[in-house]
Amino acid sequence: MPPRFHSKLPDAGTTIFTIMSSLAAKHDAVNLGQGFPDFVMNEELVDLVTAAMKNNYNQYTHMAGYPPLRDILSEKIKLLYEASVDPETQITITPGGTYAIFTALTTILQPGDEVIIFEPAYDCYLPTVQMNGAIPVLIELQFPDYSINWQQVRSIISAKTRMIILNSPHNPTGAVLTEDDISRLIELVEGTDIIIVSDEVYEHIIFDSKKHLSMLRYPELLSRSFVCFSFGKTYHCTGWKMGYCVSSPELMSEFKKIHQFNAFSVNTPMQVALAHYLKKPEHYLTLNNFLQEKRDFFSECMDNTKFKALPSYGSYFQLYDYSKISNEPDFEFAQRLTREFGVATIPVSAFYQSKKDHKVLRFCFAKKEETLKKAVEKLKRL
Ligand SMILES: Cc1ncc(COP(=O)(O)O)c(C=O)c1O
Repeated sequence: MPPRFHSKLPDAGTTIFTIMSSLAAKHDAVNLGQGFPDFVMNEELVDLVTAAMKNNYNQYTHMAGYPPLRDILSEKIKLLYEASVDPETQITITPGGTYAIFTALTTILQPGDEVIIFEPAYDCYLPTVQMNGAIPVLIELQFPDYSINWQQVRSIISAKTRMIILNSPHNPTGAVLTEDDISRLIELVEGTDIIIVSDEVYEHIIFDSKKHLSMLRYPELLSRSFVCFSFGKTYHCTGWKMGYCVSSPELMSEFKKIHQFNAFSVNTPMQVALAHYLKKPEHYLTLNNFLQEKRDFFSECMDNTKFKALPSYGSYFQLYDYSKISNEPDFEFAQRLTREFGVATIPVSAFYQSKKDHKVLRFCFAKKEETLKKAVEKLKRL
């Protein structure tokens, strides 16, 4: 008899990204589903990793991260967000953005705590809340612009509210926080013990001259926030699973207690390479334009189909309404699109606990022009 045990996540199945990518592979479809670039990353960064390995940076580095990498990140934060962040006490390098989010939640949450999550939501938030014995409180973003209804948030806040999870630029919708959102948030949390976990992995992918409103810009928010980033998204190397978290010294000190008994430290040669690479801000400052061109190229091509674009102001995703083509549920439609038309996407209902279906699909446009063109040629047949 196999040993009996209780699942911590009895309702969790395979993620939609894996389901759609497997289906794409099975039907040899163009994969605009999962969020990763299909173009190569910068060779200079690859060479820096090789050099670091050859120069013997192959042993454990500091638990909070290779110090020169934390120093340069602190300089970058000053440059971009005008915040003074102590690299010693306020930054920890992590194996990816997801790990930073997981650790932040695990640092704070106690059984019974309530956590506000906005839906559609990136898939790791809810299970991480549940794994910690806390209670997800779900609030839907307002369709079709996916803005936050702050009055609704205020009405849901209770003495049990421990945390609010934010994500801007937003996956899957491409929505971004506005100055008004930030003012409402500051008002809402003032005088409370609410902690903010801010998922900002797409900080450099924001379009149409909009400014990324990081929690790091606002001292009154930074003092209660864990702000999570990903090198994978910024440098086209999602497979590296490298990221970092920034917080107040007090919160970060607790974060490190959890981190030191989990990963303890992160891949040394890649940190050494990134510390050099980050000395050139142009590598991250040019990302907006590069991906905005991709968004616009894809969108122009898609104008020749029956899909209708919803605006994307950031991230490398755009939602498209397919209600003129079909009234099938989005998961069924996405599967048929993959099987019969050879294009894989992600149905947005997968980002809702209730599987809310607005008949929209998420397309990833971080792809070579030829890949995007190929996909659109297929979609024109619909
Ligand atoms: C909103 C969001 N947060 C976090 C992550 C994960 O980042 P990482 O691959 O660095 O763990 C992703 C990746 O798709 C994402 O879209």
